[in-house]
Amino acid sequence: MANQPDVASGIADVFDRTADTYDAVGVDFFGVFARLLLDDVGPLTGDRVLDIGCGRGAVLFPAADRVGPTGSVLGIDLSPAMIARTERDIAERGVNATVAVMDAQAPTLPGQVFDTIVASCVVFFLPDPVAALRAWHGLLRPGGRIGLTTFSGDDPRWSPVREVFGPYLPPELIWSMVNPANPMASTENFESALGSAGFTSPSSVIREHEITFACPEHWVEWSWSHGQRLFWELVPPADQAAVRAEVLSRLTPLRDPDGCLRMTQTVRYTIARAFPADGHGAAGQSYPVPPR
Ligand SMILES: C[S@@+](CC[C@H](N)C(=O)[O-])C[C@H]1O[C@@H](n2cnc3c(N)ncnc32)[C@H](O)[C@@H]1O
Repeated sequence: MANQPDVASGIADVFDRTADTYDAVGVDFFGVFARLLLDDVGPLTGDRVLDIGCGRGAVLFPAADRVGPTGSVLGIDLSPAMIARTERDIAERGVNATVAVMDAQAPTLPGQVFDTIVASCVVFFLPDPVAALRAWHGLLRPGGRIGLTTFSGDDPRWSPVREVFGPYLPPELIWSMVNPANPMASTENFESALGSAGFTSPSSVIREHEITFACPEHWVEWSWSHGQRLFWELVPPADQAAVRAEVLSRLTPLRDPDGCLRMTQTVRYTIARAFPADGHGAAGQSYPVPPR
């Protein structure tokens, strides 16, 4: 796809602008998913872990705790600002991890060296997720594991808020969100995408998380602090104030008696294994998998 670099650098620019506030505005979100993902994929003491799209380290820091001093965690991300801030946090905390600016779509890393790959809330930003999964498969040692989180459905009570942004979204973005053939559109599609990338034994768990916001303005602040910022930035400056007012007016009826707003976020946690490219395991799963 000729326009892939533009798509990727546009996304990285958005995340550069979120880096200061990302996961830091008092909403339990990415860290909750990260801990459950690590429980599912299970990096062990001494493992070499690759955290793809590491952001501010929601997965990277707990992964470093789990692998301990004999293991290692490498985080990669396309946003230089995310990497710079996470690098600073690693140094301040004295954690056994390193980070690098790198495109997850085509990582430049040696093959078959990682025991575990994790990518939390990342694959839906990639221009060609199946090609990326294929590249990641080649980075895992035989029998290594991958764990991913993807969003799996929106809270229908919040549709009126999402609809405010509809008129500003480009048609191709709307289509990618509703296209039933999108690899992330269903668990079946996603596990099939992992299979076509060479992974075996995919399994998924869907979990519902209740996300709490103190007030409507808190939701607005939070929505600017992560990938949803893209939706705000698609609104022309002349319309920003009106859109913000409309969003706040649609958020107000969602308040509970205590004044807080609660949104159900459905997250798909998917785990799969890598087998060698020669096909052993993919057909009969006969490859001897090292115990974990
Ligand atoms: C929603 S954040 C998730 C960050 C982190 N995994 C977490 O759970 O908090 C998505 C991250 O993917 C990164 N990203 C998007 N496209 C990327 C690409 N092509 N290569 C590497 N990172 C990418 C963004 O810069 C951002 O940090």
